[in-house]
Amino acid sequence: MCGIVGATAERSVAGILLEGLKRLEYRGYDSAGMAVWDGASINRLRRAGKVQALGDALDELGLPGSTGIAHTRWATHGKPVEHNAHPHMSGNQVAVVHNGIIENFERLKSDLKEHGYVFTSDTDTEVIAHLLDRSVKSGSDLVAAVKQTVGSLEGAFALGVMHQSNSGEIVAARKGSPLVIGVGIGENFIASDQLALLPVTDRFIFLEEGDIAHLTREEIVIWDKSGQLVERPISRYEHGVTAADKGGFKHYMLKEIYEQPAVTLAAFEGRINDGLVDESVFGEQATAIFDQVKQIQIIACGTSYHAGMIAKYWMESLAGIPCHVEVASEYRYRSVVIQEGTLFVSISQSGETADTLAALRDVQDQILASLTICNVPGSSLVRESDLNLMTKAGPEIGVASTKAFTTQLVALLLTTIVLGRRFKLTEDKEREIVLALAELPSLIERSIAMDGAIESMSQSFAEKHHSLFLGRGTLYPVAMEGALKLKEISYIHAEAYPAGELKHGPLALVDKDMPVVAVAPQNDMLDKLKANLQEVSARGGELFIFAGSTQDVQPGEGIHVLGMPSMPQILEPIVYTIPLQLLSYHVAVLKGTDVDQPRNLAKSVTVE
Ligand code: G6P
Repeated sequence: MCGIVGATAERSVAGILLEGLKRLEYRGYDSAGMAVWDGASINRLRRAGKVQALGDALDELGLPGSTGIAHTRWATHGKPVEHNAHPHMSGNQVAVVHNGIIENFERLKSDLKEHGYVFTSDTDTEVIAHLLDRSVKSGSDLVAAVKQTVGSLEGAFALGVMHQSNSGEIVAARKGSPLVIGVGIGENFIASDQLALLPVTDRFIFLEEGDIAHLTREEIVIWDKSGQLVERPISRYEHGVTAADKGGFKHYMLKEIYEQPAVTLAAFEGRINDGLVDESVFGEQATAIFDQVKQIQIIACGTSYHAGMIAKYWMESLAGIPCHVEVASEYRYRSVVIQEGTLFVSISQSGETADTLAALRDVQDQILASLTICNVPGSSLVRESDLNLMTKAGPEIGVASTKAFTTQLVALLLTTIVLGRRFKLTEDKEREIVLALAELPSLIERSIAMDGAIESMSQSFAEKHHSLFLGRGTLYPVAMEGALKLKEISYIHAEAYPAGELKHGPLALVDKDMPVVAVAPQNDMLDKLKANLQEVSARGGELFIFAGSTQDVQPGEGIHVLGMPSMPQILEPIVYTIPLQLLSYHVAVLKGTDVDQPRNLAKSVTVE
């Protein structure tokens, strides 16, 4: 979704802003722009399409100056064309970049039009520029104008604002959309996330909901939502600048797939004591809260939702705790019955997904407590939850989530254990799971070693338009995740079904043009799954099976089998995800799609 970068410095800022926008490209966008104050006036450049188009325009036209704001826009109101790209300006006085949606913009717009303001875009954002201009013209300084304007906006926003007569100043505001301040030496920055600013600083302030900040080169002043001056802590980015580079891989996605042995290890390393999970890693109040839990409600979106579905199997079968899981966009808009003792677990790579955050906020006062499983320290979900467990995957840039998912599963397994102790999980069983976890990195490595075979297999998919993914038990959500990956990056229609549902509909679709992918570990569901696969074969469907036993699942005409390493059953959903990630990756490469930034999608969905 939209990305914001801003800088006030002694040096020229256009290069910093452009690099920041490139680093935000992964969030998803369709136009880009920048406004820089050159000591006398604010000049602006905008382009539809990629940041590179803006970079080319900058090379040609230049945008000198030491204070600026920049933006990648993911279209909501108005097409992705140049006149809708940010920054938006009111005359040549005010420039604004905005992430989020202003819900009452139509009313504000007609009022501003009545007062003579002329609109040059179809966006909701432009009202902010004109409101600011009106406020400054009526005598407010820029900070007061932002405070006044923000008060009349409904919806979600992160803002970066400059005014022609406020040399070297940026005012930032956040409500509902993420924004961080980068603290430099004699220069300061704003951005939608830390990654944008890593080349210039590793020190960050996370703004709280309702905060307004005034930045100059030398100073950062912050007011909270009640208008009080506040000090916010500065934290250091711990992953290093290069964690967000491609590191010699052709795509971020491939790099992130290959990082999974290391990051899944990081997700449990240091969290085990004497063969048992250390529950203090969830936060100071963990023990007191966990002691009162009676059931779990998991809320998430996209890939994180699939992780939640797997956790439901674990919570109920291993721990014996009632567990519900639902996508946030549904949960937040229906009337829900929350039972006493409910631990609300949100799962989110970014910690900023608008629906997940809204779902948490809606139920805050009805739940026992909240826990977030998240990859971004300091994100909104982390800050607003009682407990958290970081997944430690490091920055994930590819829009299609890979390492964030497998590390979420590790974190959810740890969560299942600490809660399960209070229900039916015995200490012996806990030790058995912890021992199994130790095998995970090498099992993932062995699955990645199948890359060449999977690449060959991918050729059978490149010309196809539809595909079906099947699994049973914890492997059903894995099939869903495999189908999601394929559709996201190769644009091939992919559907997942619990294999037992095959004959209730999808079997009608099966023919030679519909490849069917199955995840078939050697577990107690294998015989049932094999029967389902027979049903596909008998109808001329071509099967691609990732099997735990090549003896039990034999290749044949139209049946391709890739043998997976043998593994503890508890690890199956994590390890069987890897070949499906690789399959979708290679199909997308064959099809020549934009693997890391698939069309129409965004990494961080900060609007509804
Ligand atoms: C977007 C991303 C997905 C992600 C989902 C939820 O759709 O493209 O990769 O799974 O949002 O995001 P979250 O950050 O909450 O895990």
